Amino acid sequence: MARILITSAIPYINGIKHLGNLVGSQLPADLFARFNRAMGNEVMFICATDEHGTPAELAAAKAEKPVAEYCAEMHDVQAEIAKGFRLSFDHFGRSSSQRNHRLTQHFAAKLAENGLIREVSESQVYSIDDGRFLPDRYIEGTCPNCGFTSARGDQCDNCTKQLDPTDLIDARSTISGSTNLEVRQTKHLYLMQRSLKDKLEAWIDSKTDWPILTTSIAKKWLNDGDGLQDRGITRDLHWGIPVQKGDAPWPGMEGKVFYVWFDAPIEYIAGTAEWADAKGKDDAAWERWWRTDKGAADVTYYQFMGKDNVPFHTLSFPATILGSGEPWKMVDYLKSFNYLNYDGGQFSTSRGRGVFMDQALSILPSDYWRWWLLSHAPETSDAEFTWENFQVSVNKDLADVLGNLVSRVTKFAKSKCGEDVPAGGSFGPQEAALIADLGARVKDYTDLMAQMDVRKSAAELRAIWVLGNEYLQSAAPWSVVKTDPERAQAMIRLGLNLIRVYAVLSAPFIPDAAQAMMTAMGTDDWTWPTDMSQALRTLPAGHTFSVPENLFRKITDEERAEWQQKFAGVRS
Ligand code: 2FM
Ligand code: ZN
Repeated sequence: MARILITSAIPYINGIKHLGNLVGSQLPADLFARFNRAMGNEVMFICATDEHGTPAELAAAKAEKPVAEYCAEMHDVQAEIAKGFRLSFDHFGRSSSQRNHRLTQHFAAKLAENGLIREVSESQVYSIDDGRFLPDRYIEGTCPNCGFTSARGDQCDNCTKQLDPTDLIDARSTISGSTNLEVRQTKHLYLMQRSLKDKLEAWIDSKTDWPILTTSIAKKWLNDGDGLQDRGITRDLHWGIPVQKGDAPWPGMEGKVFYVWFDAPIEYIAGTAEWADAKGKDDAAWERWWRTDKGAADVTYYQFMGKDNVPFHTLSFPATILGSGEPWKMVDYLKSFNYLNYDGGQFSTSRGRGVFMDQALSILPSDYWRWWLLSHAPETSDAEFTWENFQVSVNKDLADVLGNLVSRVTKFAKSKCGEDVPAGGSFGPQEAALIADLGARVKDYTDLMAQMDVRKSAAELRAIWVLGNEYLQSAAPWSVVKTDPERAQAMIRLGLNLIRVYAVLSAPFIPDAAQAMMTAMGTDDWTWPTDMSQALRTLPAGHTFSVPENLFRKITDEERAEWQQKFAGVRS
């Protein structure tokens, strides 16, 4: 049994995520977690809310709530929506937890001890009209690298370059729009990433199996001349993790907090500690996932994220870990995604464009979304959500191919044999051919899933469903039953067993439908089918089954038009 640690990029606390965010991190991570559990591996799947920084402060101010209260409420909202999408986190933590405070302060102390922190007195943009320093995201201007006019102070969304606010050309406050900005002196801590460049490079070079998207972004920022800058890891804000050296004060840093991007990835570790706390377990329980000196040497660690998060996870977070000099588990495989676009433009949280997770669930159950999103995951290039495409996929793949097979087999079986698996006949050449084809495809599917090849896995799963339909079509038990009822019984027996096999294989993508299929087959045997001949004999003659409710309904043209209209505008 392998030990698999999985983390998804942790979503910001302010606001509900859109489907583009979901498909770039949490959803494929969930697919992989479910697959690994199905393979019998020991899985730890961690996500959390990313709660610090100016966005949270401003969103709380807008909601007229104290920021801690706002974050607690929004965490619960996001946790509930995650449940709605059946995201099977072992723990959904909070970056504002005491665990994260302590670990973040611990890492900072270690980095300082190892001579990797320097104090910098720097010029920072202060907004006179807003009465505050304007960190990173709250300054907009023109990107010095690509000329994009809405680049943020921390990063350009157009070319992904990590920026400092003072790099921007024609800067303005996005809080008030004011250009009445001045540069003031303030003291901050910098993580000396440059001194870690060789170590980072050797580490990235050792990852020869990473997706090209991940490695190309990592190398770009590592080698692009100014790519690997020392980075400020503190901010002049109230809400965040106080700058301390472990438990001790940090002279000169009073009243400052760590930068949100410094503490966010540490929450992967802290979230696992929160899991242990919630389960009443001791520190050894989470350390065996994270400390290679305490049992994590045999863990394989996978991270999932959108491409905009790659620089922080291939350079800054590894710099924190390597720089600590302690034996922390580092990521083994970093799966990154391109962007999902929405109906001819971009999904956008700030502009409220697209379909947001809560809205999606208000019109259709999660399986419909999970299937479309995963089968169209933006892996090799950006992808686009259109309502037409969504309707076609749901109606064809889910309703016509899978739903129809389940309904035809169970209804026909019940009408001819009642609610027990029939005993007659035996499998012949047609069944043998199906078993061989299915066996080969399931092997491919299993390999693709293990490689996190999401779109190809979905295509393979669909092909596996199609095989069942083709078999039924050519075997035609509804005709055979008239002349050779025994033979028809064997076909029905195979059909019912096929539904159980499909439930097992489909569960990582569409867990609710899979559960409904399994329940209808009157069993809880989720064994992954490695021997197809045996798998299709699991439900014996006489075993009781039932006809499930219709698994998937079709999306009508009227609904498609209505939703297209409804989600054409912006969400306020
Ligand atoms: O892009 C985002 O939504 C960030 N909140 C991701 C942080 S991932 C990590 F660092 F924890
Ligand atoms: Zn740019």
